[in-house]
Amino acid sequence: MKKEGYKVAVVGATGAVGNMMIKVLERRLFPVSEIVLLASGRSSGRKMKFKGVDYPVQELTENSFEGVDIGLFSAGGGISAKFAPCAAQAGCIVVDNTAHFRMDPEVPLVVPEVNPDDIAQYPKKNIIANPNCSTIQMLVALKPIHDAARIKRIVVSTYQSVSGTGKDAIEEMLNQSREIAQATQWSKDDGLDSLWESLRNFKTMKTSVYPHRIGYECLPHIDVFLENGYTKEEMKMVWETGKILDPTIKVTATTVRVPTFFGHSESVNVETEKKLTAQQAREILSKAPGVKLWDDPGKNRYPLTALAAGEDFTMVGRVREDTSIENGLNLWVVSDNILKGAALNAVQIAEILIQKYI
Ligand code: A2P
Repeated sequence: MKKEGYKVAVVGATGAVGNMMIKVLERRLFPVSEIVLLASGRSSGRKMKFKGVDYPVQELTENSFEGVDIGLFSAGGGISAKFAPCAAQAGCIVVDNTAHFRMDPEVPLVVPEVNPDDIAQYPKKNIIANPNCSTIQMLVALKPIHDAARIKRIVVSTYQSVSGTGKDAIEEMLNQSREIAQATQWSKDDGLDSLWESLRNFKTMKTSVYPHRIGYECLPHIDVFLENGYTKEEMKMVWETGKILDPTIKVTATTVRVPTFFGHSESVNVETEKKLTAQQAREILSKAPGVKLWDDPGKNRYPLTALAAGEDFTMVGRVREDTSIENGLNLWVVSDNILKGAALNAVQIAEILIQKYI
């Protein structure tokens, strides 16, 4: 017999993604019979609202999962490594937003619009992994193109907002941008020399989250560097695309942190087996689940973070044929990294779990 409601724990409830998970559960009317809000001891006792009622945040411990049906984890890989197995052992099904279990062959890695049936594998470890934010939005856009024309190769460059790093990063970007803007007294009547002079003072600004300042800067560095010269974020896009969509697709990625608040943007180039014209691609994308085609350059209509922030869909626009190869397309793909890139995707997985499996 189906339960009427589920006991749901949110691990990292006070963080940027955890907070959004609570809001998405509420907004999508997920049948929650009891909510458990977990974070570090620092937040213990703090109150957070769910459906208009205040709930105390509790310190995460190994005993936090008694009777919990579903645990949505977003408190960092180390926390998931330590506590997701405890939760799973206690009978809680974990939907983990960190990278820790993503490539574990016994853990399904799921984008509901792409490979929902992989959720069936969850009993192997009682854990389901939520993919990397940049991978999720790229695959929502590319799945229908792959189905229609078989993608052979993907070249992607990302422009990722600071909210993907967490609240500390949002604060760092805001403080640095404010400090630079306030200290740079420049108008267009002044020469560029004086602007350079002024900006020089900020070359070695104090940073705590990123290795360099992020205010008015782009950092081609997300997550750690690996031996092959790529960052782990870049390799996540390669590995996860293989696991979720098709291991035969070749992927190469450059991931860049940019000083925007919410929403990741991606320039995606694909080479396909079959020819698709830009118009055919637009038609396919206009019907694809989770996609909002926004592609009318004559009216300056293309995806922007300002349009995608707070929305469930992934925006796709600037659809063009790649004129340098026979069968290729270029796309600009934008989505809210905290929503579809994290919290929404996790709740969608939980929705399928309760509809089909528990
Ligand atoms: P807390 O607020 O108590 O530090 P963000 O990614 O936005 O920075 O959020 C990180 C989330 O992970 C927060 O909810 C944070 O809780 C939580 N977290 C960090 N360290 C721990 C820990 N040791 N145990 C449980 N939760 C943690």
